[in-house]
Amino acid sequence: VAKGKYMEAPISPVATATKSDVQAFWNKASCGEEAYAQGDSDAEKWARQAAERYRLEPYLAKFARFEEGAGKDVLEIGVGMGADFQEWGKAKPRTLYGVDLTPRGVDHTRARMAAAGLPCTLAVGDAENLPVADAAFDIVYAWGVLHHSPDTPKAFREVARVLRPGGVARIMVYHTWSLTGLMLWVRYALMKGKPFTRMRTIYSTYLESPGTKAYTVAEGRKLCLQAGLVPVSVRIQLNHGDLLQGKVGQRHQGRLLSVAQALWPRRLLKLVMPFLGLYLLIEAQKPVA
Ligand SMILES: C[S@@+](CC[C@H](N)C(=O)[O-])C[C@H]1O[C@@H](n2cnc3c(N)ncnc32)[C@H](O)[C@@H]1O
Repeated sequence: VAKGKYMEAPISPVATATKSDVQAFWNKASCGEEAYAQGDSDAEKWARQAAERYRLEPYLAKFARFEEGAGKDVLEIGVGMGADFQEWGKAKPRTLYGVDLTPRGVDHTRARMAAAGLPCTLAVGDAENLPVADAAFDIVYAWGVLHHSPDTPKAFREVARVLRPGGVARIMVYHTWSLTGLMLWVRYALMKGKPFTRMRTIYSTYLESPGTKAYTVAEGRKLCLQAGLVPVSVRIQLNHGDLLQGKVGQRHQGRLLSVAQALWPRRLLKLVMPFLGLYLLIEAQKPVA
């Protein structure tokens, strides 16, 4: 693991919201709940949400590699509605533990796992202070979670602490230079006559929970290295928001968005701008001492 000046410099951006702001936001509705969890019964809602999730994000399962959970000790941080947690459960891990900052996310996931008959432990818990012992897990997974927590570097250090030597972390955080970010910048900075608004302000104010952050590839690597994890791969992924697919932009409706959705050159963007994705997919390993 690298040492020296580069490693010691703090990683920007810094937090602009408190943890209770973040908890209040996600406790109103879990991720995907309003847009995709539709149906008359809970079972129908969970099935629709999962189906839409994996249709819109076909790269997710390839990155997570749920099947590798078989016989392992697995932790998911920020379970939300629990679709991915259920996939980990189906892989038959030795133990499966999940936390979320919100009672709502834990309740959804607990009910979902009970209905599927999949054993697990769930708790309301904080990524920055995980309620688990050191070196307890082979796999730690967090999809779209750690950039919402005010002290993201601390959450990465917690991931390193709870992993066994040789264990692997698979973490998605947001990427700074994305089509999603640029669209939000056009809408909320340029069109409001404030072209000098920084991308960090755009993400923290207009994307999801207050204070949401985004990172460059170099910062993603640094988050790992400063935490004591070795980055195995850090790559950018265009997501359905960048491609204006699914029910994106519920917070940002307007004629301009409808026009853009109709005209968006998705195939061309995938071909020529894969580096402008919102997702940073990070796989990292805890070194064997
Ligand atoms: C965008 S949602 C993602 C949920 C789920 N992983 C998914 O992909 O659907 C973010 C989730 O992270 C949780 N979260 C935010 N900060 C957290 C923290 N410090 N500790 C644990 N969970 C956190 C929120 O409660 C919310 O459920």
